[in-house]
Amino acid sequence: MSDTTIDVPTAAIDALRQATSIVAMTGAGVSAESGVPTFRDAQTGLWSQYKPEALATPDAFVQDPLTAWNWYQWRRELVAATTPNPGHVALCALAELTPALQIITQNVDGLHTSAGSESVVEFHGNLFIDQCDHCGTREQATAYEPLTTPPLCSACAQVLRPGVVLFGELIPEAALRSAVAATEQCDVFLSIGTSSLVYPAAGLAQTALTRGATLIEINTEETPLSSVADVVIRAPSANVLPKLVAALQ
Ligand code: OAD
Repeated sequence: MSDTTIDVPTAAIDALRQATSIVAMTGAGVSAESGVPTFRDAQTGLWSQYKPEALATPDAFVQDPLTAWNWYQWRRELVAATTPNPGHVALCALAELTPALQIITQNVDGLHTSAGSESVVEFHGNLFIDQCDHCGTREQATAYEPLTTPPLCSACAQVLRPGVVLFGELIPEAALRSAVAATEQCDVFLSIGTSSLVYPAAGLAQTALTRGATLIEINTEETPLSSVADVVIRAPSANVLPKLVAALQ
């Protein structure tokens, strides 16, 4: 969709202009224009080539840690070569235009932080953290080439795992608490680039709606939120977000 064909509904601009507290819930779609594959888009989805249910699980790191680890090393190498896109940058600008903007991201790529956003809840963790479930050590990963043996914790020598939420795991307590608190006080909830299928992340939009917040969805495809959102902008976030911010400036 060319840039000129996207018109940002005035209802969205008015809601954002009057907001005292905004939540931006982002998913893989926000990073798509940075070249990071989404999970469920058929033609480009990360999962079209792999069986994440078999890899992104705690069991995978027990049964076959090297294969599981090397899938994450491959993702790290891919993501490390990407940079924030105009959508990430626009959210930084939005934070300067409104009293309170809380980004809650399901993405583990760190691109909101790289873009300069300061208030980011990494709801599903961060791809570049090595985490020890035995002693709690967390270290920044620095090398992404394929491994011949799983990495070991420098403190207790147990096998490490990536600092991301795996299937079946709970959301880190601090992230969940911050996300719920921001959702419970926002006037506007932006749902950007997410299929809104994975809970509890997908439940936050419903919580915001129930409280009377304005729900704005920016997504290239229909999702379960589309029918209940106050505003739906069916276009790429890297095009829409800069236009939204320009309209507010
Ligand atoms: P998905 O791949 O499920 O959904 C991405 C959504 O973004 C889809 O609805 C696309 O249509 C849309 N989209 C793609 N490109 C876009 C663009 N340029 N602008 C706007 N929208 C675009 O990814 P998520 O919803 O983030 O969890 O997936 C949620 C979670 O499922 C992930 O965090 C991951 C996975 O299980 C964990 O790993 C715990």
